[in-house]
Amino acid sequence: MSEMTMSEITKSEITMSVRGLRKTIGKREIIKGIDFSLHRGEVFGFLGPNGSGKTTTIRMLVGLIEPTAGTIEVCGYNLKTQFTKAIRNLGCIVENPELYGFLSGRDNLQYFARMIDGVDEARIEEVVQLVGLQARINDLVKTYSLGMRQRLGIAQALLNRPKVLILDEPTNGLDPAGIREMREFVRYLADHEGLTVFVSSHLLSEVQLLCDRVAIISKGTVIHVTEVRALLEQNERMYWHLQPQELAKPILETYFENVISDGNHLVTAFDEAKIDPCLRTLLQHNISVIEMSRKLSSLEELFLELTGGESID
Ligand SMILES: Nc1ncnc2c1ncn2[C@@H]1O[C@H](COP(=O)(O)OP(=O)(O)OP(=O)(O)O)[C@@H](O)[C@H]1O
Ligand SMILES: [Mg+2]
Repeated sequence: MSEMTMSEITKSEITMSVRGLRKTIGKREIIKGIDFSLHRGEVFGFLGPNGSGKTTTIRMLVGLIEPTAGTIEVCGYNLKTQFTKAIRNLGCIVENPELYGFLSGRDNLQYFARMIDGVDEARIEEVVQLVGLQARINDLVKTYSLGMRQRLGIAQALLNRPKVLILDEPTNGLDPAGIREMREFVRYLADHEGLTVFVSSHLLSEVQLLCDRVAIISKGTVIHVTEVRALLEQNERMYWHLQPQELAKPILETYFENVISDGNHLVTAFDEAKIDPCLRTLLQHNISVIEMSRKLSSLEELFLELTGGESID
């Protein structure tokens, strides 16, 4: 594959665009009008709680089910009217990758490669390297760990050199080490190969570590699209365990707009510039600082904020 660096990847290039996407199943409208555009070289998170419509959206994005309304374009090709050209630029794993346990990893890739035009041995070798499975590629898939199966699934999805890779909750069921490997390797695909990676997740912490931008979905609607960095800035909190708390609170209030008492802690926004001066003032007033910690709001808290108090399910 081409030797690209971040600076050569034109991040402004749109690789996928979705407009007015809707899906009604039976009498129920499950997806209620979704819009977003994905750029080259970005990891885009699709964050929402169970049942919010992530998998249903993804099934439409990859052509498994037909939208009730809306358009999907992949690299400028309409998924409905120019299906072959559109799908050629797309790689995906929806739910579990389809793998044969009684074949080796390499035999699995060769089997799938036969169904795609223009995939030769060299490309198979390339995708094996990309997902880091060189050492185990000749072993039977039934001896693979879940993380290795996921990697092989992604290798398979990369065979046709897609521009956009779509993964539905790729870290489900993986242990912490497996999750970290997956994260590093998804970042590698975006940063060094210029791939657009669309990943769904129900974990804010995962999106925070992996993605550049995020769309937050609730009950079939995207309620917020933002840069992950901005989301973190807005939603990081500082927890202060100070004694005596009654005396500490008015001091914090001279630095922070909203100071909330939460049992043993006072909670404020996280603002790096204010911490040092605030600490000095607290110490000058003989306030004991027992603990200070920086925490991200939970997905639930974030939803409460974004939806103005509506629950997430
Ligand atoms: N074929 C179907 N028929 C009827 N309802 C469906 C169908 N597929 C999905 N749904 C409903 O649509 C809603 C969204 O489901 P979907 O699987 O897309 O959510 P999700 O965000 O992927 O959830 P999870 O995090 O649990 O994977 C759910 O209420 C689900 O019950
Ligand atoms: Mg799902």
